[in-house]
Amino acid sequence: MKSIRISHLLLLSTAGLLMEAAEVDISKLPPAATKSGVKFETDIKPIFEKSCVKCHGAEKQKGKLRLDSLEATLKGGEDAPNIVPKDSAKSTLVHSVARIGEEDDFMPPKGKGDPLTKEEVGLIRAWIDQGAK
Ligand code: HEC
Repeated sequence: MKSIRISHLLLLSTAGLLMEAAEVDISKLPPAATKSGVKFETDIKPIFEKSCVKCHGAEKQKGKLRLDSLEATLKGGEDAPNIVPKDSAKSTLVHSVARIGEEDDFMPPKGKGDPLTKEEVGLIRAWIDQGAK
């Protein structure tokens, strides 16, 4: 009886994981910017300062995540890693700012600030694809 219940649980959690993966349709991501030499300090930090740092900085660390330095950004939050260097399409931070996948994970959250533009998302993608330096 006990083993039946355990396998049932395993099945359920596997199905849950599959569903979560299927919800993120990466074909909906805007393309990476074509700019080369994209760097955190010059290209990405200004975007995060404008749209993210009030909730992910010195004052508040929502989801245990800070985005006010390269080191903290790469370290990630509660559900780290949020960034997979060289693979922006697999980076959950990119899914969040592109507003694909789970609505609860959209960043900035619904009604809590303007969504990033396609250009900004593309720049973040290029930065990650180029190694997140
Ligand atoms: C108004 C506040 C607010 C703003 C602005 C905001 N976030 Fe968040 N963010 C949150 C909250 C709240 C959570 C935690 C959600 C949860 O745990 O369910 C979160 C979680 C996250 C996570 C997941 C962290 C983890 O590992 O669990 C990422 C990635 C993220 N935010 C990125 C961003 C980015 C990038 C921006 C700017 C484009 C941004 N957020 C702007 C409130 C905000």
